[in-house]
Amino acid sequence: MDAWLKDVRACCDNLGMSPTKSPAYRIAPSLLSADFARLGEELQAVIAAGADWIHFDVMDNHYVPNLTFGPMICSALKPHAQRADGTAVPIDVHLMVQPVDALAAAFADAGADLISFHPDASGHVHRSVQAIKAKGCQAGLAFNPAAPLDVLDWVIEDIDLILIMSVNPGFGGQGFIDSALRKIEQARKRITASGKDIRLEVDGGVKLENIARVAAAGADTFVAGSAIFGKPDYRVVIAAMRAALAK
Ligand code: DX5
Ligand code: ZN
Repeated sequence: MDAWLKDVRACCDNLGMSPTKSPAYRIAPSLLSADFARLGEELQAVIAAGADWIHFDVMDNHYVPNLTFGPMICSALKPHAQRADGTAVPIDVHLMVQPVDALAAAFADAGADLISFHPDASGHVHRSVQAIKAKGCQAGLAFNPAAPLDVLDWVIEDIDLILIMSVNPGFGGQGFIDSALRKIEQARKRITASGKDIRLEVDGGVKLENIARVAAAGADTFVAGSAIFGKPDYRVVIAAMRAALAK
């Protein structure tokens, strides 16, 4: 076993941590970095390793310069998004598409639990939020690195999730953009002022090395693609992230 894996395991043992516990923090592995030839297996492996949510990155080669998967893949994976004890693992759909509404509805029908979209991709943000909620899903707004949070002035009462992009959307494996920390702090202030129970998710470049810093800025939900799927043992990485968050 690699020395770093031993260190991580020892660290988790010392903290009495179980990678299958469900903490206040959520770790949401992004399937974007999974092996697409074995998507079902990868989903099950990352759930067995302790994933809280499954992050599902939908790209349309229009809003972003990449193309990933659609509602049919989500629907095929949905029955497998559960833990060994039968509890469901929420599917967290991140729409990087324009327009928003038709695909949001299709993903709701395909089993999405949460659906986030970029406000600049919708002509009618309030209507898109309501359409997602009318389908029984939780609704989120996603903010690109250079996007302001102003729209929250008008819709924060209606949403369940704020997703702060810490990379430009379109690709996994990019470096964390530090200005996202300031934006997370601002978003946390808005959530506190709203008095609502809104998740604050950060997406892009999150790794074992920076997850504690991101949490300190105010995030409670962490998307990680390459940091998890790029490693040989998903359980060890997720446990190490929890250990870093627990410090
Ligand atoms: C980027 C996606 C991210 C991406 C994160 O457009 O929204 O979810 O998969 O990948 P990493 O963790 O590798 O930056
Ligand atoms: Zn994403």
